[in-house]
Amino acid sequence: MLLTAEQVESYNQQGYLFMESAIPKNILNKLNAEIPAVFAEDSPRRVFEKDNRTIRSIYAPHFTNKTFDQLKSYSRLLNPVMQLLNNEVYLHQYKINVKAGLAGEMWNWHQDYVYWEKEDGIATPELINVSIYLDEVTEFNGPLAIIPGSHRLENMDTVISGSEAESGEAWQNHLSVDLKYTLDKPLLRKLVNAYDIVAPKGPAGSVLIFNPLVAHASAPNISPFDRKLLIMTYNAVNNLPQIELTRPDFLAGRDFNALEVLEHEEWKEELLEQHGSVF
Ligand code: SIN
Ligand code: MN
Repeated sequence: MLLTAEQVESYNQQGYLFMESAIPKNILNKLNAEIPAVFAEDSPRRVFEKDNRTIRSIYAPHFTNKTFDQLKSYSRLLNPVMQLLNNEVYLHQYKINVKAGLAGEMWNWHQDYVYWEKEDGIATPELINVSIYLDEVTEFNGPLAIIPGSHRLENMDTVISGSEAESGEAWQNHLSVDLKYTLDKPLLRKLVNAYDIVAPKGPAGSVLIFNPLVAHASAPNISPFDRKLLIMTYNAVNNLPQIELTRPDFLAGRDFNALEVLEHEEWKEELLEQHGSVF
């Protein structure tokens, strides 16, 4: 499956593309069926909210779970990504941001690429985020908010928070509510006055593709339901990190082999074998 010329143009202009219910129900169900096992794994890949008991994010669920691993190669996602980047790709980062009902905290305004540039030495923003709504996303459960077109503004000033000096590994404040690189209020006022804010809402199985330079954030979840958002970040194979990576492999991927497309039918067969259930 490839994107239409209109979709490509819209992505390039707006910095995001929303596709409602793009993931077939049976695949969505298989992914959600794996969630309890993935959440139960005690690992540094599991990150908590400030209350130290609500799961905020699971990084690299594909390291231990075959269904999540196969998703990265799924034809309906990988083909559009290669089309938009006009290149072969590998996975730089993979996470599930849970945003638990009544407990999931905000993500402050930021751009993603600054982390990958400054921390991982990735020289150009030739990356793409593919996010999948594992739950319905509503106005109340902290939808991802985007400033459309903001990716086209060059040299956006990023505020570097002081939390780097605090105890713990520097990379830990890329994951908590206190993000390291954020966008400040005067800049945001300019951006929002010029471009406004959108927050695509939709049923579970919807897909939001967004550019790593686009300004985005999300509010706390004031609904009683979780808002699990799965995000896979693909990088072009000719845009490999230019430094020796120091962040853990679950934040900065080490497998630089170009991904090969797993066709829908092929995956369907595999899932049938693994789970033995109706597909
Ligand atoms: C969120 O899960 O709402 C934030 C995701 C991101 O910043 O990439
Ligand atoms: Mn982000």
